Amino acid sequence: MSTDKIDELRAQRERSLQGGGAKRVERQREKGKMLARERLELLLDPGTFREVDSFVVHRETNFGMAEDDKRFLGDSVVTGWGTINGRLVYVFSQDFTVFGGSLSEVHAAKICKIMDMAMKTGAPVIGLNDSGGARIQEGVASLGGYAEIFLQNTLASGVIPQLSVIMGPCAGGAVYSPALTDFIFMVKNSSYMFVTGPDVVKTVTNEDTTFEELGGAMTHNAISGVAHLAADTEADALILLRELLSFIPQNNLEDAPYEPPVDDPLRMDERLDTIVPDNPNKPYDVTEVIKMIVDDGHFYEIQEHYARNIVIGFARLGGYSVGIVANQPAVLAGVLDINASTKAARFVRFCDCFNIPLITFEDVPGFLPGVSQEHGGIIRHGAKLLYAFCEATVPKITIIMRKAYGGAYDVMSSKHIRGDLNLAWPTAEIAVMGPDGAVSIIFRQELAEAEDPVARKAELVAEYRERFANPYVAASRGYIDDIIEPRETRPRLINALEVLRNKRDNNPPKKHGNIPL
Ligand code: HXC
Repeated sequence: MSTDKIDELRAQRERSLQGGGAKRVERQREKGKMLARERLELLLDPGTFREVDSFVVHRETNFGMAEDDKRFLGDSVVTGWGTINGRLVYVFSQDFTVFGGSLSEVHAAKICKIMDMAMKTGAPVIGLNDSGGARIQEGVASLGGYAEIFLQNTLASGVIPQLSVIMGPCAGGAVYSPALTDFIFMVKNSSYMFVTGPDVVKTVTNEDTTFEELGGAMTHNAISGVAHLAADTEADALILLRELLSFIPQNNLEDAPYEPPVDDPLRMDERLDTIVPDNPNKPYDVTEVIKMIVDDGHFYEIQEHYARNIVIGFARLGGYSVGIVANQPAVLAGVLDINASTKAARFVRFCDCFNIPLITFEDVPGFLPGVSQEHGGIIRHGAKLLYAFCEATVPKITIIMRKAYGGAYDVMSSKHIRGDLNLAWPTAEIAVMGPDGAVSIIFRQELAEAEDPVARKAELVAEYRERFANPYVAASRGYIDDIIEPRETRPRLINALEVLRNKRDNNPPKKHGNIPL
């Protein structure tokens, strides 16, 4: 082969690396944003990125698009694969320097191609989003491209993990591809997601808002629940994403990676014995409990700013990756409301898709009463969590720390909905409702007639508490498998995970269930 041909290849390759050219690269840097390939370099293990489709160009001819200076090699997205901690991942990274990262027909085809490969080889897909949306010059061809990606996202859901990082604009229908993926990371102050931007909002509803307020990282992490993690910088987001992958398997047929533990599996923590306050109305922070129990005290929390009355996230126990769902007594007494239910339900379903055992820490006074909750559909949304726990066939282990009242007792991975091991601390209170409410109802007549209703009520409450607000009634029926000393929780959980490692359970054959959406 003549060296000319090699030289030409090198020249073309070099051209493809220029993106939209020096001026636009400069503009991207001025905004404090990295370039598409730089982001991939940081995300992947050094030197492992292999790019494909870098010679693809768009096919549009209208609006002067056929001119040479409008045809950028690779178009507006960089695609390929590499490894993260030695494990294969497929990636796409939108290049804002080419037509604002907008999605052309070929841009969509490039993404679909690597998603196809990811499905065939069983590896996660990671999308780095930085795009002005549909390529306006291409019209419906661009819309068709989006729809093809949405279909791929949906077909891949539950087969391979799909992760999205938002690193710039993500607007219009474009938001629906990340929304169909498993986890969305956002970068503070430089990323935003919305269906219609501030100008359209102003025209339609006359509301004044800003990009940040309408769809910035904290809006979606704390208010809407659309995003799962927020990072201060692009680099932080990529580091966080790398870590998330360490907890999850490559696909639905594999187990999550096991990491031999440094932390002693038999370690007991005496502080747990006194962490639940004597006064049942006093809060404590459940994340402290989790950290005392899991390997190295390391808890990777998901959606920590949203529906804070429930806590979800990943950790390791004896080296095994687990998904944790915990009521948070420090926020709204750990009550289940609409947002907490949907937050936890989606997480439970993710863990179940990907063979990650579920550990539930329970201290829940019930579902939140109120007109706004009822009118907002707490029945439907609460049912999502119930459905998710019921359908999950991964190992399910529950620790009742304190309150397990009413319907919430059933919902939170109870024995009756296929909990594999349900343990309680001696401080557990398992009953239809709290002593106060129960006494007011069943002794209404007696209290109305009592000489001193306050003193009588106190007596009856004490009696009820003594009889029912404990774990022994549930344990006597086998609804609780054992009552343990809080300090024993870590070794007991690790033992249970080992025992349940080969658990197999199935749901009846069906096309799919009908979760109350
Ligand atoms: C083609 C686009 C583009 C688009 C930006 N550009 N968006 N080209 N199609 N959608 C180009 C610009 O012409 C410009 O080209 C370059 O990208 C950078 O854009 P700027 O406007 O200079 O950048 P900035 O000031 O940072 O603003 C970024 C932006 C803005 C907020 C994204 O460009 C913008 O509002 N774009 C339009 C967004 C939009 O309405 N998209 C369609 C949404 S509807 P040069 O040559 O100057 O570098 C949609 C439907 C999807 O997406 C439906 C799916 C179901």
